[in-house]
This record gives sequence, structure tokens and C-alpha cells, in this order.
Amino acid sequence: MIKIQNLWKRYDKLQVLAGMDLEVKTGETLVILGPSGIGKSVLLKHMIGITKPDAGTIDIDDVRISDIHGADLYKAVKHMGMLFQGGALFDSMNVEENTGFYLHQHGDPTTDKHYSKKEIADKVTEALEMVGLGGTHKKMPSELSGGMRKRAALARLIVYRPSLILYDEPTTGLDPIIAMQINELIVKTQKELKATSIVVTHDMFSALYVGDRLALIRDGKIAHIAEPDAFLKIDDPLIRFLHNTISKDPRSFKETPNGRTN
Ligand SMILES: Nc1ncnc2c1ncn2[C@@H]1O[C@H](COP(=O)(O)OP(=O)(O)OP(=O)(O)O)[C@@H](O)[C@H]1O
Ligand SMILES: [Mg+2]
Repeated sequence: MIKIQNLWKRYDKLQVLAGMDLEVKTGETLVILGPSGIGKSVLLKHMIGITKPDAGTIDIDDVRISDIHGADLYKAVKHMGMLFQGGALFDSMNVEENTGFYLHQHGDPTTDKHYSKKEIADKVTEALEMVGLGGTHKKMPSELSGGMRKRAALARLIVYRPSLILYDEPTTGLDPIIAMQINELIVKTQKELKATSIVVTHDMFSALYVGDRLALIRDGKIAHIAEPDAFLKIDDPLIRFLHNTISKDPRSFKETPNGRTN
């Protein structure tokens, strides 16, 4: 479980986080919505400890991420993965090297055991197949489309089976078909890894497709948080606006009639 209490963060005159409280349940997919510049990426960076709050605390499974640095932080965040907003890959490495990067660097996140070349190759192939990029091992990032780059970045993440995954705008800038593939991958990854997932987006379609709960950030706090149906009923102009951006409820596109089995 992630527990954020009274989190404050200011950049110069801009108060980005202002006493935010938030709890994320183990295994759930929580979507965080909010307009551009509101502090969504800043919040995620606090969760993986690369940004420190001015005040307040973040606890992830009994570890106070907001207080630790260096080797302690490194150890604590090893089981976490973040898909950065740019979906950055290492340009000088091919898809296979990109995907295996963390396994070469860190070994098994729980036991620290180093993997053999064969083990890494097998895990990389499995991860690439999971994101629909089987056979692209030798391609360079510059040879991939935007959607393929996002999927390769996702493969690089899931290859070490993180228990917490943070997605920063995973579908932004993608055409609707590729965006839908990414949405499906987020759901599939959550099912297969049983990871707690936090998805930051301003794409309402994606939010409803992947989210167990939806939260809206405003004025540095969580203004609303609820399960999808209850969230859509909240009387808030921004939620109404976001709801109006979609013509059909994306949950009707799910393969299973009753949505996810969890
Ligand atoms: N390291 C930093 N130094 C100074 N200001 C920052 C820093 N990081 C973020 N900010 C500011 O904090 C505010 C929130 O930024 P953040 O990146 O979290 O927005 P966001 O909600 O993710 O927006 P978008 O949807 O456009 O990605 C912005 O005004 C941004 O300029
Ligand atoms: Mg952002």
C-alpha cells in the first residue's frame, strides 16, 4: 500500500503540491487525472523518491520513501518501475539491449542474483512478445514508430516484474488504435504481474479503460477519488468536461463482459 500524507512541494513561487493526501491499495490500478502543469509528474517523481517533498510523507509498504536517500533509496525502489512521459529509450542501444538493461545492471530485484546471458535473453524475448514487439530485438529506437517506442519502454519495465508501476501519460500523442493497444497492455501487465499501477493521464478514454479508481488533482490536492461509475457522477465541471470528451464508455470494448477478473 502507498500512503501519502500532507505532501507539500513548491518550485519558486509555484505551490505544486499543497497538503496532498492519497492512499493507493496494493494491486489496484489508480488513475490520476488533471490538466497540464497541475503536478501529476511531480507527484509520480515523489513516489519513486527522485524528488523530495518540502513537507509530508510517502510510505510504500512500510518504507518511508520520502525520507531516504542513496543506497537505501536505491534498494527501496528496485521493485518499482516508471514509464516516463517521454518513454525514453537509450538511443545508442538496440531494442534487445534496451530491454535487458536493468537486468544486466541489477540482477534479480528480490535476491540480487546476477542473471546469465541466456536468462536475460529469455526474459527479454518474453517481455518483447508480451508487448507485441517479438522479433524487433536488433532494431534501433530511431527505427521504431512512436507507439513501438512506448511499447519497448514498457517491455524494459516489465522485464524485471516490478510490483509497482508508474505510468506517466502512457497514451499521450499516440493515435487511437495504438493508444488502445497501450491501454490493453496496461491491463494485461497488471493482470500478469499483479502489480500496483498508477496511471497519470488526461485521456478519459484510457482512464476509464484501465482504472479501478480515478482521482482528480486540483490545487495541489486530490479533489476527488472514486470508482469509475461513482467518479463520473461527481458534480464537477472538469469531470463533466472530461466525460464529454469521449463518445462511448471504453469499458464496453473490454474483451470480458464484466471487465477485469481480480
Ligand atoms: N524541477 C522543477 N523545477 C521547477 N519547476 C518544476 C520542476 N518540475 C516541475 N515543475 C513545475 O511544476 C508544475 C507541475 O509540473 P508537472 O510536470 O508535474 O505537471 P503535469 O501535471 O505532469 O503536466 P503535463 O500534463 O503537462 O505533463 C509545472 O508548472 C512545472 O513547470
Ligand atoms: Mg507530466
